[in-house]
Amino acid sequence: MKRLSIFVSGNGTNLQRIAEYFKDNNDVEIVNVVCNNPNAYAIERAKKLGIPLRMITRQEFNSPEFIREMAALQLDLIVLAGFLWKIPSSLIQAYPKKIVNIHPALLPKYGGKGFYGEHVHEAVVAAKEAFSGITIHYVNEIYDNGEIILQAYTALDEKETPDTLAAKIHQLEQAYFPVAIAFLIKN
Ligand code: GAR
Repeated sequence: MKRLSIFVSGNGTNLQRIAEYFKDNNDVEIVNVVCNNPNAYAIERAKKLGIPLRMITRQEFNSPEFIREMAALQLDLIVLAGFLWKIPSSLIQAYPKKIVNIHPALLPKYGGKGFYGEHVHEAVVAAKEAFSGITIHYVNEIYDNGEIILQAYTALDEKETPDTLAAKIHQLEQAYFPVAIAFLIKN
């Protein structure tokens, strides 16, 4: 049995998709959802999905107790699914190549602090890029800088808006993130 923890900060559409993807898979268990934002809709989703929820404060997140708590869960993979806090070095060191993130652009472009969610799509459309996409990557100590595992592309139309691009990116995320996770935990 492979054990996952999913970290979220927002809507939780990726959490929902991943949970549904692995629902009937007896080899994979989502042992908890870690959330830093009391207003995140992901909280409702975790409750409806019946996954234990761990709300964290910044102080807790950066504490050695949190690492011990996670260690007790015997995780095989930590999945950042729209989680917007920087991961402390101590957690990264405790999980080498075991923390993965999804970013809604083709890194290394449009990555780093401040580039999240719609801000990314606004910047991509403003720059009249021909393509955007998603990047699934390992997490290291620099924002959006870890080794790339998978990228998927989509073309921008002439009349593309941040909203229409967001919808295309959403589709790529829904299609590829669970499959990438399945691949990573098998290999
Ligand atoms: C996703 O588009 C994800 O790529 C992005 O946040 C969104 C979360 O959506 N992540 C980042 O921007 C990380 N820098 P969700 O909460 O509905 O899964």
